[in-house]
Amino acid sequence: MDIRKLNMDEEPPMDLLLLADPSQKHVQEYVERGECFIAKIGSETIGVYVLLPTRPETVELVNVAVLEDHHGRGIGKQLVMNAIQIAKSKGYKTIEVGTGNSSIGQLAFYQKCGFRITGVDIDFFIRRYTEEIFESGIQCRDMVRLSQDL
Ligand SMILES: CC(C)(COP(=O)(O)OP(=O)(O)OC[C@H]1O[C@@H](n2cnc3c(N)ncnc32)[C@H](O)[C@@H]1OP(=O)(O)O)[C@@H](O)C(=O)NCCC(=O)NCCS
Repeated sequence: MDIRKLNMDEEPPMDLLLLADPSQKHVQEYVERGECFIAKIGSETIGVYVLLPTRPETVELVNVAVLEDHHGRGIGKQLVMNAIQIAKSKGYKTIEVGTGNSSIGQLAFYQKCGFRITGVDIDFFIRRYTEEIFESGIQCRDMVRLSQDL
């Protein structure tokens, strides 16, 4: 598997990005402002992540996604580890990520990638998304913030 930055002349893999974030508008906006990295096996794009600088010395992993039939093989973790290495090499001191209160699997995944919960942004998804989101029978309302020192 090869992980590399998306070239200027390449389209971002929108189908993959939308697996992690249902809002095409939000995805387009942060892909333009941030840096998009893709994972390829041969000619197939099987993973993506996006890094977005947010505050001095802090970068946020705003999207990470793996093609569904490749889940559970360690690819997501390799993408996050790659994002951490890239962020470190650029001199950032902290990497952050956020996920919904209803995203139980993602909360497990990020903690297994070394993130610690640092806060909760109450009603984040109610404020930012027009559609109601439900996962595991739980309404997605709050953004759970996680971070790790680099
Ligand atoms: C979240 C996602 C990127 C994980 O990718 P993946 O390649 O399946 O994850 P990995 O195989 O690298 O898993 C790494 C670790 O996290 C754990 N993990 C991954 N998904 C999990 C889940 N849904 N529930 C519990 N644990 C999970 C794995 O068991 C593994 O644990 P280990 O290190 O002890 O073996 C992938 O499920 C995905 O693309 N989901 C859709 C998009 C999305 O929701 N992105 C996150 C937005 S907040």
